[in-house]
Amino acid sequence: MRKLTIPFAVGGALLFSTAAAEPSSEVAWTPDTYRFAQSGDAANGKKIAVEVCDECHGAGGVSEEDDFPNIAGQLETYLYKQLVDFKSGKRKNRKMRRRVKDLNEQELADLSAWYAQLPAEPQGPEAPGHELVTRGDPKRMITSCNACHGADAKGADLDVPMLKGQPADLFVEMMENFRDGSRANDVYGRMRQAAEALSDEEIEALARYYAGLPVQ
Ligand code: HEC
Ligand code: HEC
Repeated sequence: MRKLTIPFAVGGALLFSTAAAEPSSEVAWTPDTYRFAQSGDAANGKKIAVEVCDECHGAGGVSEEDDFPNIAGQLETYLYKQLVDFKSGKRKNRKMRRRVKDLNEQELADLSAWYAQLPAEPQGPEAPGHELVTRGDPKRMITSCNACHGADAKGADLDVPMLKGQPADLFVEMMENFRDGSRANDVYGRMRQAAEALSDEEIEALARYYAGLPVQ
């Protein structure tokens, strides 16, 4: 159901009357705004997202690249506020402003509804790389990464490095170098053998998995 009668409560007037200084956002959390921000139509949001947003934020709201924030599973009201702020210029970003400046508030609420209900990128045991890290893949004779790099990915046995906290892009490059043999300084070919069996998607998933581990 569309709430066409709800007045657009995201206006400067209310705030300007109470605060002398310029407000940091034009979104004031009145009960109406709060309700409006949660009234979006996710199906319509998806249509706009496919045309305008997927290009950078990825089809599921989780971007392949490090330049774009993940927005899947984000709080709906937060998303709405950011989009309004980009539109009004309260949060400055040229790329984002260009994408939202011609969208109306209802469309911004629809986009917020769409992204909020998408699953956030899974972490821990749910993450795509977790299986390879902890168990490997016996069918393909792939040893788990943990078997050599240690259960806490801290490294072991003199020459097996810690894997936590490497930038994901660099991690992918390292794995590709082992896979194509351009890095071959691993004694007994232990890493070349491990990398050879992996697909691009698996390497990507592993990179994100390790980049996401807390470094202590
Ligand atoms: C050309 C690439 C590009 C496109 C297309 C794009 N964005 Fe963005 N988006 C960005 C970048 C870059 C940032 C980070 C801005 C910053 O650093 O402040 C961002 C930030 C955001 C944020 C803030 C996330 C946060 O955690 O604070 C939201 C929400 C968002 N975008 C939603 C959208 C939606 C919805 C669309 C489609 C209408 C869209 N974006 C289209 C590049 C893009
Ligand atoms: C049989 C043991 C073994 C297995 C299994 C193994 N590795 Fe390694 N890995 C090594 C060794 C040894 C090195 C260091 C090679 C050298 O001396 O340069 C290494 C190095 C690496 C590096 C380079 C790190 C850096 O800082 O240069 C990455 C990345 C890596 N391994 C990822 C993985 C991943 C991901 C898996 C699981 C798919 C895995 N490894 C499985 C033994 C192993």
